[in-house]
Amino acid sequence: MSVLSISGLRVDVAGKEVLKGFDLTMSSGEVHVIMGPNGSGKSTLAHAIAGHPGYQVREGSVRIDGVELLDLSPTERARHGLFLALQHPMEVPGVRPVDLLAAAGASRVDLMARMRDEARRVELRPDVLERFVNVDLSGGERKRAEMVQLAILRPKFALLDEIDSGLDVDALGAVARRLQEATLEWDCGVLAITHFRRLLHELTPTTIHVVSAGRVVATGGPELAEILERDGYEPFRIE
Ligand SMILES: Nc1ncnc2c1ncn2[C@@H]1O[C@H](COP(=O)(O)OP(=O)(O)OP(=O)(O)O)[C@@H](O)[C@H]1O
Ligand SMILES: [Mg+2]
Repeated sequence: MSVLSISGLRVDVAGKEVLKGFDLTMSSGEVHVIMGPNGSGKSTLAHAIAGHPGYQVREGSVRIDGVELLDLSPTERARHGLFLALQHPMEVPGVRPVDLLAAAGASRVDLMARMRDEARRVELRPDVLERFVNVDLSGGERKRAEMVQLAILRPKFALLDEIDSGLDVDALGAVARRLQEATLEWDCGVLAITHFRRLLHELTPTTIHVVSAGRVVATGGPELAEILERDGYEPFRIE
């Protein structure tokens, strides 16, 4: 069993404090969902954990089983069991998915065959695997390709920022199902940022966190998603 713990995280972006002491702890096999209004700092959390240079960590820690990820390079973070799917994935011309996966620690043995198997599971055309990472892929193909990467790398924890945005209903189902299966197949911990409860039809959350103005202001069970849908964020808003 592994534990991901984010504690007291303070992050500045463009000279402004966006994350103001963000705390969240989760274990293997759990599905935690982060919801919150636009601009509350959800993607900032993902970028800071990704080690994006524009996001300055002032304070706090992000640990997997006690290992401080913020001291590691992005590649080392991946090798320590963290998988990230950003809201706007970067195109990486010249790099093929197979090489990206090998760099992140995947064994090259039968790698292409395993990728094709995984592509089939999320109904991704296998020829997409031959193209450069994210280049000329549709929104749905990108998200399905990310599920292939996830399945090959088998991370301890996956942080996914709006993995449901722009997906048609079939792609949404495929992605949600694949994440749910990951929690069972290798006890993957899933941390999903989303605005929409429809992702949670096939991905069953253990815990919901509401973020406002750079910190978690409420944590609860799946019923919290229903309350948000009914009442909006106003009751949770802090400044
Ligand atoms: N690279 C950047 N440069 C300047 N400001 C930024 C940058 N990234 C984020 N911000 C600012 O930080 C705040 C939080 O942005 P963030 O993208 O984390 O919000 P979010 O919660 O992901 O919102 P959304 O739901 O719209 O995706 C916003 O005010 C945003 O304008
Ligand atoms: Mg965002």
